[in-house]
Amino acid sequence: MASKLVSSLSWLSAVVLLLVPAASSAAATRGGTNPFFFDRRSFAYTAKTSHGSFKALHAFSGRTQLRGGATDSYRLGLLRAAPRTFVLPSHWDADELLYVLKGRGVITQVPRGREGGDTQEISEGDVLWVPAGTMVYLLNADAKESLRVAVLLRTISSPTGDYMEFFAAGGLEPESFLRAFSSELQEAAFNSRREELERILGRQQKGAFVKVTEEQIRALLSHREGGQSGTRSPFPLLSQKPSYSNDRGQMHEVTAREYPQLRRLDVVVSLANITAGSMEAPSYNSKATRIALVISGEGYVEMVRRRRREEAAEEGGARYEKVRSEVSAGEVFVIPAGQPVVTVAASGGEGLQVLCFGLQAEENRRIFLAGENGVLKELERETKELSFGAPRKEVDEVLNAQKRSIFVEGPQQASRRGAESRLS
Ligand SMILES: *[C@@H]1O[C@H](CO)[C@@H](O)[C@H](O)[C@H]1NC(C)=O
Repeated sequence: MASKLVSSLSWLSAVVLLLVPAASSAAATRGGTNPFFFDRRSFAYTAKTSHGSFKALHAFSGRTQLRGGATDSYRLGLLRAAPRTFVLPSHWDADELLYVLKGRGVITQVPRGREGGDTQEISEGDVLWVPAGTMVYLLNADAKESLRVAVLLRTISSPTGDYMEFFAAGGLEPESFLRAFSSELQEAAFNSRREELERILGRQQKGAFVKVTEEQIRALLSHREGGQSGTRSPFPLLSQKPSYSNDRGQMHEVTAREYPQLRRLDVVVSLANITAGSMEAPSYNSKATRIALVISGEGYVEMVRRRRREEAAEEGGARYEKVRSEVSAGEVFVIPAGQPVVTVAASGGEGLQVLCFGLQAEENRRIFLAGENGVLKELERETKELSFGAPRKEVDEVLNAQKRSIFVEGPQQASRRGAESRLS
């Protein structure tokens, strides 16, 4: 039944794709053979009830083109808690970095730190670090809105992205791992008889996401203590001034300088908000590999990859090839360090919002290839002439034509403008 539903859904989305005016030319593929692209079917549910779910993207090490790279020990997950839902305490053998995509919630981490007050309110745009092994639980007290959280895991036990989630407080479902100890050990550890233990460890069957009443919510919230200070506080990414902004988009970014907890994961978090019909100018990262999750909107991504020698020989000798894929909300792509990329928001939509986790981010620099801050403009005049084998004037004409930086007009807008200026 479930698989039938899934296949009919993907059939449906294929039809929808054909019906929705393509964001770009017919050459665009949805993933196709793009080794850096992951669609929604690349996620597998690890927990699911009618009140919420957690799904994790397949390990990046499963892709030959990524295996052995920076992404190996990271995983990406998506958590959803329905309105008035409690998510049971568990701990993971992975550091977690949370980004609140939608809604609000109250998150508690135990054991409590020295500052106390490890209960924190989180809302859309918050970034929060949860250290490996911390027992963490969550309440969505809202009566209407679901809470959605992107979770970047950095696995500590496995170099290839395997991780485990452990429930101590639970029963049959979620299964408490305490049940796995021999009963005489359980009895001795808790100084209790088997029947007494069974009374608490043999009950829960509702799963990790449970519905809570108004009254239970009041009781849960009454235990809140401490403030929003201390090292366990979230960082509100969206309330910060964008690190870059123009009429074509905004970039919000947080590094370990603003939120030192990010150093533990060696990650920077950024959110690019590209207006409809615009794009991020071509760029590459000096050190960081980026995991990009499309939060909303539609568009496409083009990346340049160097061909292996055998591949280049087969097809007329081109060294580089583009890998391209259309993207929409809930899909993921990986941009390895050094690889040039352009991200385009479909025209006539709501724009494209992309959340990026930059891995191995310390001292990373994002280097732009076109635009006001394009790196090629920094070449000296002789270097330009020697490298392009063209007169400097011609080189400069091209390099200086793009007046915007970072966010620029996309191809459709640029060509429309070209047509207009030819007419006038
Ligand atoms: C994204 O940009 C649009 C305007 O194009 C704006 O309305 C929206 O609030 C922005 N979102 C974020 C998260 O910056």
